Amino acid sequence: MTRTLITSALPYINGIKHLGNLVGSQLPADLYARYRRARGDEVMFVCATDEHGTPAELAAARAGQAVADYCSEMHEVQADLARRFGLSFDHFGRSSSVHNHRLTQHLAARLGEAGLIEVVEEEQVYSPADGRFLPDRYIEGTCPNCGYDKARGDQCEECTKQLEPTALIEPRSAISGATDLEVRKTRHLFLRQSALRERLDQWIDSKADWPVLTTSIAKKWLHDGDGLRDRGITRDLDWGIPAQFEGAPWEGMAGKVFYVWFDAPIEYISATAEWAEANGKSEKDWKRWWKTDEGAENVRYVQFMGKDNVPFHTLSFPATLMGSGEDWKLVDYIKSFNYLNYDGGQFSTSQGRGVFMDQALEILPADYWRWWLLSHAPENSDSEFTWENFQLSVNKDLADVLGNFVSRVTKFCRSRFGEKVPEGGDCGPEEEALIAALAKRLRAYEAHMDAIEIRKAAGELRAIWVLGNEYLQEAAPWAAFKQDPARAAAIIRLALNLIRLYAVLSAPFIPEASQRILAAMQAEDDGWPEDVAAALRALAPGHGFRVPEVLFAKISDEAREEWQARFAGGRDR
Ligand code: 2FM
Ligand code: ZN
Repeated sequence: MTRTLITSALPYINGIKHLGNLVGSQLPADLYARYRRARGDEVMFVCATDEHGTPAELAAARAGQAVADYCSEMHEVQADLARRFGLSFDHFGRSSSVHNHRLTQHLAARLGEAGLIEVVEEEQVYSPADGRFLPDRYIEGTCPNCGYDKARGDQCEECTKQLEPTALIEPRSAISGATDLEVRKTRHLFLRQSALRERLDQWIDSKADWPVLTTSIAKKWLHDGDGLRDRGITRDLDWGIPAQFEGAPWEGMAGKVFYVWFDAPIEYISATAEWAEANGKSEKDWKRWWKTDEGAENVRYVQFMGKDNVPFHTLSFPATLMGSGEDWKLVDYIKSFNYLNYDGGQFSTSQGRGVFMDQALEILPADYWRWWLLSHAPENSDSEFTWENFQLSVNKDLADVLGNFVSRVTKFCRSRFGEKVPEGGDCGPEEEALIAALAKRLRAYEAHMDAIEIRKAAGELRAIWVLGNEYLQEAAPWAAFKQDPARAAAIIRLALNLIRLYAVLSAPFIPEASQRILAAMQAEDDGWPEDVAAALRALAPGHGFRVPEVLFAKISDEAREEWQARFAGGRDR
């Protein structure tokens, strides 16, 4: 049996994610996980909240909470939203878990023993008033480039220029506002990524099938500028994974924690260990996904992420795993995404601009969003959410094409034959043509799903729905019923079976609607159809069903305008 390991980039803990975040990682990963399961693979699909770093500390401070409490609460909020969006994780973990502490420290120790971590003395800003060294983001001041007076030590949000904290004019502590900052010497751990350049280069070269977006970013970082320079992997924060621990091959790191980007990807592995523990499994059970010397050599590992995450997944994380000298599974395929923009601008978490996951579900069920987002996934370029396009796509694809087919067929059958699959009548050339067309489109749909070409797959699925409508139009059971009720019965029997088949094929995109269709048809999802003709005989004459409630309601112009206005201004997040 094929074994597929799927990870989605971990959402930061600091607040509810917007739809742009969702479509760039968790949602397409879920689509693929559902599809691979449907094709019979053994799938392990993990994700987690990314809980360390300054954003978590700052968000907790804003919320007036201890950071550990803030993270626990926000983890539950995100887990609940993920569930309500139908994200079918085998485990949704936490990068602050005990497992991740242990594994991060273990890997760091291995890297240290391999000579790939060195202790470097640096100068860093110290705040006597706060009694601590300040990470770059904890220093604010005036941007030397544009004059913005709340620029951060790492970057000016206004003009986006990358900054060094010492370049800020009138710097102050973002914690206390203190201005009596000093520059003091301190020590940090550095990962010697540059020592692994050749291995990484060869490894990336071996990935000829990766999407251009992924490879071009990886190559750029590998060869241009300072992409692979040795990086500091410790920070002066309280919250995080302690960099000084028993058995550490260095001294002097007390009070420091690992940099969030060092421990976050390790959580992919730790989340699988968390899954094992939560499900009464053993260490062997999770290691068979991750250790090539313990069964993972046959696993296919696919990652999903936004393009800004690519350097960390093509260079830093592989460097951690390779450098450890242990047999860890490296990623086989990285599906990366461009950005989704929002109605003429950008989604923005800090400005609360756009639609956030909780707000989306207040308005409409998850499948409406899933369908639009996936069928417009920003694969080859950035794409844009507009309310007009959302309305159009929901009303045409979901309501007119799929929903209407289900409704027409089931209602016609109920009125002429009752709520059971009718018997009698023969199929003829029209049905043969339909089956041939469906088989062709189904193979194309599978090919796009296999290649994780999401927009193309959505287009093919929609075309499969359209085939049903065209068939119904041509076969015209309402006309046939008058002269030849048996012929009408044969048409409707096929159409009812088509509805069941649509539920199975559409489940990766719109799982909840698919479940409702199957429930109405009193049918099971008994696996991916290998043979279309056989799949269209699954519901035998006499099989009962009921007409389902409206599957997808149309979006009115009034509703669209109201939502457009409601989400135009930002809100504090
Ligand atoms: O960009 C982000 O949202 C990060 N939290 C992604 C982390 S992915 C992984 F490495 F953990
Ligand atoms: Zn600026």
